Amino acid sequence: MIWLRGEPVAQKLMAEVETYAQQHALRLDIILVGQQEASRIYVKRKMEQARKVGIHAVLHHFPELTTPSELLRHIETLNADPAITGIIVQLPLPSHFAEDEILEAIAPSKDVDGLHPYNLGLLMQGRPNWAPATPWGIVELLLHYEVPIEGRHVVIVGRGRLVGTPLALLLSRPVAYGNATVTLCHSRTQNLFALTRQADIVVVATGQPQWFPPEAVRPGAVVIDVGIHRQGTKLVGDVQPAVAQVAGALTPVPGGVGPLTVASLLSNLCRLHRYQSRCQ
Ligand SMILES: NC(=O)c1ccc[n+]([C@@H]2O[C@H](COP(=O)([O-])OP(=O)(O)OC[C@H]3O[C@@H](n4cnc5c(N)ncnc54)[C@H](OP(=O)(O)O)[C@@H]3O)[C@@H](O)[C@H]2O)c1
Repeated sequence: MIWLRGEPVAQKLMAEVETYAQQHALRLDIILVGQQEASRIYVKRKMEQARKVGIHAVLHHFPELTTPSELLRHIETLNADPAITGIIVQLPLPSHFAEDEILEAIAPSKDVDGLHPYNLGLLMQGRPNWAPATPWGIVELLLHYEVPIEGRHVVIVGRGRLVGTPLALLLSRPVAYGNATVTLCHSRTQNLFALTRQADIVVVATGQPQWFPPEAVRPGAVVIDVGIHRQGTKLVGDVQPAVAQVAGALTPVPGGVGPLTVASLLSNLCRLHRYQSRCQ
């Protein structure tokens, strides 16, 4: 069984970002609303990693009770500032926000997360300028470990819009990293394990800690565990540890997909900068 560790891939991406940031002034602005602990940790990590490679990272921290119109006005100001390369609105937002409306307010050319409908439309057409960070990180991981994708059956468990759905699009398009046959499963899928047992590659992105069992995996298959959950002092994934005894290759948690998300996000910032330079 091979462990598909994310760290070497993340280091390679970060080195590329650092080189690019030495040659171009990159600025990343992150909007955080409220005090949710997990969001604050994610934002802190993004800011630290960005600064480490020479990106000017700026945090805009708003109180929980900020109104949608206040936030929309602020996004407008950031959109109009030519010094800003990219904008992130950390999700989830408090429940009085319509997340789609806020994501749509970010200028598509500054949408680091790739969640604006324009960027998702390009992704659907198989010609994304950049793509949501976690699925793109998974593609980088598969390419790095030379996992064959073309013609293979990929079963993705979880149709979330941050991971499962964009990954299904990326892997199924007729592009160098695509051409897979993708089955996208969710909580209403019947005979789920009969489907996952047919897969060459299984991606589990459900947000349920350690539930995906070894009997759901064909011996020798590649398993990508996207989940990340804190249990006491430990981090665990969506996949049960015993899957390691059946799979041919597996991402560890921690140390698999996790390290790739921020690296992939910062790679997106370079792609945004290149795109903006072309459009000038
Ligand atoms: N490692 C990282 O850096 C990283 C980054 C982002 C996200 N994540 C993790 O990735 C996971 C997915 O994130 P997300 O934002 O895409 O989540 P999400 O939007 O909540 O989507 C979860 C999906 O899983 C499906 N699901 C839940 N339980 C299921 C079950 N027992 N059987 C089959 N399908 C099931 C849901 O089905 P329905 O649609 O039918 O409800 C839904 O489609 C989470 O664990 C998240 O923490 C990790």
